[in-house]
Amino acid sequence: MEIGIGLLGCGTVGQAVVQLLQEKGTDYARRTESHLSLEKVLVKTPSKPRPGLSPEQLTTDPDDILDNPDIQVVIEVMGGTEASRDYLLKALHAGKHVVTANKELMAKHGAELFDAATENGCALYYEAAVAGGIPIIQTLKRSLVSNDLQSVYGIINGTTNYILSAMTEAGRDFESVLKEAQQQGFAEADPTDDVEGFDAAYKLAILSSLIFEQRIDVDSIHRVGIQRISAQDIAHARELGYVIKLLAIAKRGQNGFEARVHPTMIPSHHPLASVNGVYNALLVKGDAAGDLMFYGQGAGGLATASAVVSDLLNIVVEMEAPPNLLMGCQHPATEASLAAADQVMNRYYLRLQAEDRTGVLGQLGVLMGEAEMSIHTLTQKKHTPGKAELVLITHPVSELKLRQVVAKIQQLDIIHSVDSIIRVEDFTD
Ligand code: NAP
Ligand code: HSE
Repeated sequence: MEIGIGLLGCGTVGQAVVQLLQEKGTDYARRTESHLSLEKVLVKTPSKPRPGLSPEQLTTDPDDILDNPDIQVVIEVMGGTEASRDYLLKALHAGKHVVTANKELMAKHGAELFDAATENGCALYYEAAVAGGIPIIQTLKRSLVSNDLQSVYGIINGTTNYILSAMTEAGRDFESVLKEAQQQGFAEADPTDDVEGFDAAYKLAILSSLIFEQRIDVDSIHRVGIQRISAQDIAHARELGYVIKLLAIAKRGQNGFEARVHPTMIPSHHPLASVNGVYNALLVKGDAAGDLMFYGQGAGGLATASAVVSDLLNIVVEMEAPPNLLMGCQHPATEASLAAADQVMNRYYLRLQAEDRTGVLGQLGVLMGEAEMSIHTLTQKKHTPGKAELVLITHPVSELKLRQVVAKIQQLDIIHSVDSIIRVEDFTD
């Protein structure tokens, strides 16, 4: 079979897709029993150098791909959500199969795209949208289809993991590490999407729809970024036997489905604690398979292109199958309602500045006792004249109760400030 491919975008990922198709074209033809032909590549600026592409392959007109009868599969690696949504809807309505690496698009418009795919008997594959080169989507969809999936705990944003790792290794503050990461090209000039947890939330929306088998509204995901994590918190966490990671968590909790992204203290001996730098990792729990760990490069041209091109090759092989066997089309029909954030139970680390005088710990203990909020550990860390830093870890408590108690603590005249509140995860369930 001759398969025509259209590529929307030719930047970091797109150029690596071109490279793989060229370098491994013969192997891919053997594996799929098809000849893959890259017909057209959409870019904004055709004058940029594009190794391996002829000027005739480049276009700035999306219809050269979307209306092209010689193209059966469209690969979207241009990013954004407006033009990419329009182009992919048009491609699907024209009966073309789609591969995308775009997590924001899938998180915000996945339902609409899946509906268009189903209506038109097309595949919509998106392996690269979560954790780059780690094959997690097809693993959840296919390899673990025999399980009821219980949870996923993921380090799925390389930029924030790089920053937190560097802060942990060097004892430095967030701002200085971020600046250095930007200078070295590990963080974007505008780091908002990464440091404030949006990127991880997009990926978690995709993952949690597979874990819960229901659609997830990305705006319902509880999200806290890493910008308020300080060198002191990291140092205290270390003394207590923890490291701080930005975790994306989807789990079937006591009060319903939970989907949240936030800095989390995890035991330093846990496998996720040793995932450092830009690497990603996911811990998945299936009722039959138990705990499974996946580790690898969550970004980068070739690692991401590995996922994109594998999707492409799977589609090519499956194009012979009836449309309802295209696993990439399967998607949940109903939307999940997540457990109220207020009711989610967690242990918490609190760092407070207090008066350094008798009765302080007593008042704190009475207040927390009255609220039936149990303290697991309480340590006085350092004093400047008249002032003491207190670090405490609670037993599990609902977020609502935690907020109520913190509000009361802040009103005590012995307390100067509550500087940090970080969730603690011991992976006991
Ligand atoms: P990139 O380097 O910025 O490349 C984007 C490409 O799309 C460029 O070739 C650009 O053209 C083209 N483009 C953008 N908007 C366009 C428009 N409206 N019309 C025509 N062409 C347009 O992006 P990337 O890093 O490859 O990322 C692509 C996608 O993959 C994103 O959705 C991203 O989230 C996802 N992803 C990336 C990584 C990674 O490691 N980079 C990992 C996982 C997923 P010009 O070349 O002419 O500017
Ligand atoms: N900005 C993302 C990260 C790139 O830092 O992980 C891959 O999606």
